[in-house]
Amino acid sequence: MGAARHTVAVIGAGKIGELMLSGLLRSGWPAQRLLATARRPVRAEELATRYGVRVVDNLTAVEEAAVLAIAVKPQDAGVLLDEIGPKVPADKLVVSLCAGLPTSFFSRRLPEGTPVVRVMTNTPALVDQAMSAISAGAHATGEHLALAEEMFAPLGATLRVPESQQDAVTALSGSGPAYFYLLVEAMIDAGILLGLPRQVAHELIVQTAIGSAVMLRDSGEHPVKLREAVTSPAGTTISAVRELEKHGVRAALLAALEAARDRARELAAQAD
Ligand SMILES: NC(=O)c1ccc[n+]([C@@H]2O[C@H](COP(=O)([O-])OP(=O)(O)OC[C@H]3O[C@@H](n4cnc5c(N)ncnc54)[C@H](OP(=O)(O)O)[C@@H]3O)[C@@H](O)[C@H]2O)c1
Repeated sequence: MGAARHTVAVIGAGKIGELMLSGLLRSGWPAQRLLATARRPVRAEELATRYGVRVVDNLTAVEEAAVLAIAVKPQDAGVLLDEIGPKVPADKLVVSLCAGLPTSFFSRRLPEGTPVVRVMTNTPALVDQAMSAISAGAHATGEHLALAEEMFAPLGATLRVPESQQDAVTALSGSGPAYFYLLVEAMIDAGILLGLPRQVAHELIVQTAIGSAVMLRDSGEHPVKLREAVTSPAGTTISAVRELEKHGVRAALLAALEAARDRARELAAQAD
């Protein structure tokens, strides 16, 4: 069953929902096969003008679309499901993009047997470089997972993971872009401290980030190997590495990702 034949409704098209819409359109998904919903009329207007998709109310989306991609904030999911849950025919596929919420949260609020797939994507979807991790919930078959993959593959890479790993995925790749931006921001500041103009520091670090990322992806080497290649005996890099270790950067990252994982769990508990 080709996914392009399905109508996908993005329910709650905010930042992530919009990334999905624009990515699907860029990949050639026909606009007439896409629906979007929003809470505020001004947002609905904006989406319709920007993407030429039909913006409808939630119940119309439920009726017309075969796939319902839920992209509201986790704390808004309960109210949304109170509205649409009982109206969703059990043959529709529900794809949740909500951080933290287990598929059981949806299953409990949907008719028995409704397939639910959970996806954690990230903002580089905007440049077709997303990392989307996909898990099957109850009643989701291989065919449902394949359909979700077809929807997210145009936005970047996809990976199937067991649902039990999704909170960790949220901490790593869902929030991940923010950690890299923070590092880049700090390194640009360091460049300024060393006397470089901001623009020069920016250009040096952004290209270094891109080059390093492409090497990580394409060389197949372990990051330690790649770092060792830049770290000559008694050289400049090892002096910097000593300071990073002294200031606990590695430990800070372990603690930070654990905190993000815990927050994902907390959000799920609050939404329940
Ligand atoms: N941002 C990220 O990097 C990221 C990454 C991975 C996953 N996520 C997940 O993606 C989801 C959305 O996050 P976001 O950053 O895109 O939030 P957002 O920009 O606030 O988008 C949520 C949208 O849902 C709409 N909405 C809320 N309740 C609704 C309802 N009952 N009916 C119709 N529309 C409704 C809101 O409308 P109004 O604008 O009118 O209020 C808003 O446009 C979250 O669950 C988050 O965990 C986000």
